[in-house]
Amino acid sequence: MAEGVIAPGQKRRDKGVQRILIEEDAIQQRVRELAADLDEIYGDETPLLIGVLTGAVTFMTDLMREMSSELKIDFMAVSSYGDDVTSSGAVRILKDLNENIEDRSILIVEDIVDSGLTLKYLLDVLQRRNPRDVKVVALLRKIKVDAIEVQTDLVGFEIPDEFVIGYGLDYAGRYRNLPYIGVLDPREYQGYEK
Ligand code: IMP
Repeated sequence: MAEGVIAPGQKRRDKGVQRILIEEDAIQQRVRELAADLDEIYGDETPLLIGVLTGAVTFMTDLMREMSSELKIDFMAVSSYGDDVTSSGAVRILKDLNENIEDRSILIVEDIVDSGLTLKYLLDVLQRRNPRDVKVVALLRKIKVDAIEVQTDLVGFEIPDEFVIGYGLDYAGRYRNLPYIGVLDPREYQGYEK
């Protein structure tokens, strides 16, 4: 098919997806399981769910609606400095929490753990604020040999070390509205700067 042509049944948003890695139904099923596990963990507590902007928004909104526990939410935005610099662990806060987390049970809700550096930074920052308990749920974790060891209490799916998009995850700001997780066609890397 000629470049730029959308295949029958495809939507404009699907263009650039090499293949679907996790179907919408499978994501929804797994989110329900994670929510059930979290309900069991939290019991009568009221955890504060902390969504890491922007990628975790879709996961966060689905997850919280599947949970029966009483809960509160807040968001934090962090920025990595790109591949060369992230290896040094340089991450900065773009938007901090509105809530005070001292003596509270918090649950960090992450879209994906890749090298683990962003999550490690977040954990360090939040631990210094003396929460009572910190847990982490990540929808995806990449299987890679050089990832650092970082606390991840619950993981939705372990995935191969490929660049994925959809269900909140982007490439150059696009693809967040795909209802599934897909692998980005490497040809899309050409001509775009993240
Ligand atoms: P880490 O610090 O290397 O673990 O990277 C974490 C952040 O990088 C995630 O929260 C995402 O924003 C982004 N990221 C890592 N891998 C991917 C990917 O495959 N697709 C989209 N974003 C990714």
